Amino acid sequence: MRKFESVDGQMLIGGVRATEIVKKYGTPVYVTDEDAVRSNYRAVFNAFDKRMPARINYACKANTNLAILRILEQEGSCIDAVSIGEVEACLRAGFTPDRIMYTGVNVSTAELKAVAARRVPINIDSFSELERLAMIDPSLPISFRVNPEVGAGHHEKVVTGARSTKFGIPKDRIVEAYAEAVQLGFRPSGLHCHIGAGVQVADPFVKATEVLVSIMQSIEKELGLRLDFVDIGGGIGIPYHPEDHAMDLDALAEGVTSLIKNGTSAKRIVVEPGRYIIADSTVLLTTVVDVKETPDKNFAGVDAGMNTLVRPAFYGSFHHVAVANKFDRPAEATYDVVGPICESGDHLAKERALPRVEEGDVICVYDAGAYGFSMASNYNMRPFPREVLVHKGTVNLIRERETIEDLMRNQRIPSRLML
Ligand SMILES: Cc1ncc(COP(=O)(O)O)c(C=O)c1O
Repeated sequence: MRKFESVDGQMLIGGVRATEIVKKYGTPVYVTDEDAVRSNYRAVFNAFDKRMPARINYACKANTNLAILRILEQEGSCIDAVSIGEVEACLRAGFTPDRIMYTGVNVSTAELKAVAARRVPINIDSFSELERLAMIDPSLPISFRVNPEVGAGHHEKVVTGARSTKFGIPKDRIVEAYAEAVQLGFRPSGLHCHIGAGVQVADPFVKATEVLVSIMQSIEKELGLRLDFVDIGGGIGIPYHPEDHAMDLDALAEGVTSLIKNGTSAKRIVVEPGRYIIADSTVLLTTVVDVKETPDKNFAGVDAGMNTLVRPAFYGSFHHVAVANKFDRPAEATYDVVGPICESGDHLAKERALPRVEEGDVICVYDAGAYGFSMASNYNMRPFPREVLVHKGTVNLIRERETIEDLMRNQRIPSRLML
């Protein structure tokens, strides 16, 4: 959780008063601090690169805003993309194809063809994908995603490395996959796994790396194939709760790079953080529109809901909240912060001690940069909100708010229904 300054009881974001941003851009609005994105990227890159040559593939599913992709392109980041849409966004933001790696799951042949046409390296998830890609273009750089049978994460829905999940090639068939790839004319260059998301400790990453190292050794021994990189995936957690501990990046980097350096001839480690880079760079500002006191609870009703930020409703995730225009005031009451969506599960925060809240107050939801906008929806026919970028006291609009008209643009009423 990032610490924010205040002036005259007003929360500051990147040197700008939250209330000033709200006055100009309205709410709900996602606000990203450019310096935070850059410093998070540098922290993770340096932790690994000082130990062995490292490549950071920013997992852009966390946040694909083009301005944010531009910032990371400038920093020298590379990309983990999971769809042709993400690939196209990253190309638009200036990434060259060799700086993108496509890791899909249940990939259609049409999507494989589209990614291959862009000359983007493909990290293969199944034998079926391998065989279909061989018919499209065996000259493409490839690697494989293995299911390491090591899973971890903040919620069962985000554990991807466990044996029972849909992801990756089973561990006991992975050497066979490399052998088949070579036979089909490919020259595989790396091995990848992703254990899950929101992992706060180094241990599961170390365990998964042990599996990767042992597979690399088998591939070298049985096939005489030396791979260039080991990719440990993403999933580095952040402290959403004030009492959470931040991941010890040095311990993580030391644990995994020492195994790779001692056990393989790989030249490079690849890490795919999404959340770590973008989550705490961004807050969601939302206005209190209705305050309701019931026998059981006080509700602060706001204009952002599960349509704007789904994590609390979907995963039961904790996001810290504060009243941005009463930033220095002590807590006076306990509130659930709830949105305008017609679901009882529509909440942003539960049972939070806050200063007394009134209509017109601005609630700041912390750590909203990862899987915030990117998982937003139009549920209840609510348009997507604006996004702005704050940089050393200036604010730029980086996504316009959708309109009600936008929501209807692609719909068609058959003429027979208009009679
Ligand atoms: C293959 C892969 N890499 C990286 C990530 C990024 O995870 P995180 O944002 O938790 O770092 C994901 C998330 O789902 C993923 O599926």
